[in-house]
Amino acid sequence: MNSAQPQGAVTEIRDGMELGEFLRWGRDLHHQGRYEDAARAFELILGVDADNQEALIGRNRAVRCSVPRWHWEMLHDEERAELYDRAIRQAVAAAPDSLVLDIGAGSGLLAMMAARAGAREVVACEGQASVAETAARVVRVAGYDDAVGVVSKMSTRMTVPGDLPRRAGLLVTEIVDCGLLGEGILGTIAHAREHLLTPDATIMPSRGRIIAQLVESEPLHRKNHVGKLYGFDLAPFNRLSTLEYFDSRLHRHEHRTLSEPVTVFEFDFYTADARPQRTELTVRPTAAGKMHAIAFWFEMELLPGIVVDNAPGHDSHWKQAIQCLPVPLHVQPDLPVSLVAAHDGECVRFEVESEEVVA
Ligand SMILES: C[S@@+](CC[C@H](N)C(=O)[O-])C[C@H]1O[C@@H](n2cnc3c(N)ncnc32)[C@H](O)[C@@H]1O
Repeated sequence: MNSAQPQGAVTEIRDGMELGEFLRWGRDLHHQGRYEDAARAFELILGVDADNQEALIGRNRAVRCSVPRWHWEMLHDEERAELYDRAIRQAVAAAPDSLVLDIGAGSGLLAMMAARAGAREVVACEGQASVAETAARVVRVAGYDDAVGVVSKMSTRMTVPGDLPRRAGLLVTEIVDCGLLGEGILGTIAHAREHLLTPDATIMPSRGRIIAQLVESEPLHRKNHVGKLYGFDLAPFNRLSTLEYFDSRLHRHEHRTLSEPVTVFEFDFYTADARPQRTELTVRPTAAGKMHAIAFWFEMELLPGIVVDNAPGHDSHWKQAIQCLPVPLHVQPDLPVSLVAAHDGECVRFEVESEEVVA
């Protein structure tokens, strides 16, 4: 057996096969970055030798590489959970016979909330196989497997009636990152509207808004840029710094805001699609300073009146999206800053059009 083994070709360890070969296969898959396949290979070994330490460690390493660590912090975000729970109860009470589709099951939390609220039929899909398998286990242990079925698939590959018995009347989804669009919510909901939902389905979230603010913060800038240090010019290393945003908590870094928050994009998930958009913004600085970054966040309406956000100042697990400028810009109140904000359906990015102003 070698690492060129087609994915899924081996589904059991048969007599006469060497466990050592399987361990090597698992390690090869891991080194190729095929973490889900590696986890499956180690799982096969554990099926015949549950205490095999190398397989246990191998599987855990592979899972650590493929399953994002934010799942746990997200699950502990009580504000997020309470707002979703409230919105789900309201939506299920309004249409208790609706088939519920949860896109992006994760642990199965939202699907179980729907079942607990009284939904009789819930289908939760999850694109990552090891997560889907684990969600099914969580749902079974919690005793909701009569109402909740887990489909191990990306929603965009689901079919009706293959994976869903019929089109769903309620969509519940939380596939957003700190910048709102990074997990593909626009395209995913557009696809669901076309292929998986009834024409009058309730869509949760219903709306989203991205809000940005100009920020002075040397410590945030240092998270993505380097200059002269220890007698060396390390600036060429900045060719590896990110041009796009990263997540960080604004209030945990020394900073000054240099403008009021401004709305950048608004989405109605009943109509929005993933086509790229671009908008020009003129932002008037409220103070003179050195603009190192644009901080942005979202407000997401789950149902009218129930809004979840990751605005600065509270400890949402999402944190804020921070896009650092390669070169800080001096700003002053009498000189508006011209920005272009664009997204490609998944990533929001800003360009600063203003020339540098020397204060
Ligand atoms: C942010 S987590 C949310 C998990 C869970 N719904 C919750 O709220 O606790 C999003 C999950 O959705 C999955 N996912 C993202 N897009 C998906 C899609 N289009 N179809 C199926 N799963 C998807 C990811 O693999 C991830 O596990």
